[in-house]
Amino acid sequence: MLVLGIETSCDDTAAAVWDDERGLLSNAISSQEEHIPFGGVVPELASRAHLRMALPMIERSLDEAKCTMRDLEGIAVTYGPGLVGSLLIGLSVAKALAFSLGIPLVGIHHIEGHIFAGRIEHAIEPPFIALVVSGGHTELISVSRFGVYKQLGRTRDDAAGEAFDKVAKMLKIGYPGGPLIDKLSRTGKATIDFPRAYLEQGSLDFSFSGVKSAVLRYLEKLSPETVVARLPDIAASFQRAVVDVLVDKTLQAARLVNVETIVAAGGVAANSELRRTLCQRGEQEGFRVLFPSPIFCTDNAAMIAMAGAFRLARGERSDLDLNAEPRLKLSQETGQG
Ligand code: KG4
Ligand code: ZN
Repeated sequence: MLVLGIETSCDDTAAAVWDDERGLLSNAISSQEEHIPFGGVVPELASRAHLRMALPMIERSLDEAKCTMRDLEGIAVTYGPGLVGSLLIGLSVAKALAFSLGIPLVGIHHIEGHIFAGRIEHAIEPPFIALVVSGGHTELISVSRFGVYKQLGRTRDDAAGEAFDKVAKMLKIGYPGGPLIDKLSRTGKATIDFPRAYLEQGSLDFSFSGVKSAVLRYLEKLSPETVVARLPDIAASFQRAVVDVLVDKTLQAARLVNVETIVAAGGVAANSELRRTLCQRGEQEGFRVLFPSPIFCTDNAAMIAMAGAFRLARGERSDLDLNAEPRLKLSQETGQG
């Protein structure tokens, strides 16, 4: 089955073609740069950029896949969660295409897409624990079968990626902050002991507001020159504190559910320190730890096309009145929790 995936939930306009037999045939992404001066995503600008880029990305994905619209057998589109104005652009294009081509449409939960990203390059069979860490989400999910998800923990305040972006803003190093902190950390040492929030005994929830405030308090005590001189160490120490908690709680969840496999996903899973530490510590404990390549960690449509192919093959279809759901829950989406 040849499926076109469309993803416009935040600030990346993406389209990809997945074929059940040949695998991923194309993966077109346009990352919006109009948000850089604002240090965060401006929803109105995001919608306008999606409007400009949705059709060019679809055309590019078809060209790269060497196929035409008429070859498509299904369309998968992210319908939530995300920015409503952004979601609506992808959804409207997807519905118009599905209707005019007379092919089935399926709406995909963005987080389910991230979970499927691991499957683009690796053979992954549930059960496994998914650590989904992005700009909008930090969740530990137990996947007993594809389509059946149980949330074991989540962030109580900022998402991990959001904390990276906010700390980068404090350090005045640019946006998006995750990749910049990752790069800066390579030249620094994690010598500053920022707090790790483990919350109450046994909790699999996360909280990143404490470490964020600790960085702010630390910066307030330093002169601007000292901040510049210590930037790599501050970045490395912050990153270390976040990664320690993410890794400890992911391993805790994997032991609790007694699975053999851990799959990381979402933009923060592109982080080199998280990749190294989770692989090292996970493998020491006998777990199989899988990370998608960085290009499939951040938002992309390959993961949506793949999740769509899975749901379409099960006979699932969405009606043409499918609406954008900015706060869509994963359990609500599958109806199974
Ligand atoms: O999954 P994603 O592309 O979009 C959302 O669904 O949110 O994730 C974007 C987030 C941003 O907060 C970005 O700073 C973070 O992922 N990110 C990283 C890295 N690359 C992207 N965080 C840490 N290290 C990275 N290398
Ligand atoms: Zn995402």
